[in-house]
Amino acid sequence: MSVTVTDVDIQPLFATPYMRANVSHAISEKQVKYIKDLKMIQNRTNFITEDLYIFQHEALKSVAEAIQESLDIYAQKVMGITQKIEVTQSWGLMNPPGVGMHAHSHSNSIVSGSLYYDELPEPPSRLFFDRYTAYRRIELNPESDRHNLYNTPTNIVTPKTGEVLLFPSDINHMVESNGSSKPRHVIAFNAFVKGKIGHYRDVSEVTFA
Ligand SMILES: [Fe+2]
Repeated sequence: MSVTVTDVDIQPLFATPYMRANVSHAISEKQVKYIKDLKMIQNRTNFITEDLYIFQHEALKSVAEAIQESLDIYAQKVMGITQKIEVTQSWGLMNPPGVGMHAHSHSNSIVSGSLYYDELPEPPSRLFFDRYTAYRRIELNPESDRHNLYNTPTNIVTPKTGEVLLFPSDINHMVESNGSSKPRHVIAFNAFVKGKIGHYRDVSEVTFA
């Protein structure tokens, strides 16, 4: 006798977010040139600005403000917190043709982001996010045509010129190699909570100034 299952309902228990927002209005041509002209040094295979706090430059004030506005939205809508999430370090990156960025995550940071301040080359090089950040003794990977939110080991985001992408800093991510003949410029940054978290009577209180 066969049993027919009815009322099947599958719902997510938890999810990992990423947020994208258009901040192109806050970046002028002059600022794009300013960032591209910053001194860069070799960083494994790509190039990174020597200065790793570039959002503190007066010349980039409007850009930093737009990023803060995006982080405010992330803190409120995604995290549901009243504290602020503020940028710590911020740096420019340049991937020459044929060069990508190895898989990594960002330490001592809560939210990280990429800002595509300059015209992205074509193809723009996609971002790959890994679901798993640690060694997996058992890998029960889904069939290629059965990937869904519950089982996919990676997810891919194609960035757009003029937007900022925000995501949790502990997620492993990599950038595919630059398949165009032009350099690919981005700004990356970390952000940390500011203000008081926890509760005094629970002895869990700590203030990040
Ligand atoms: Fe990164």
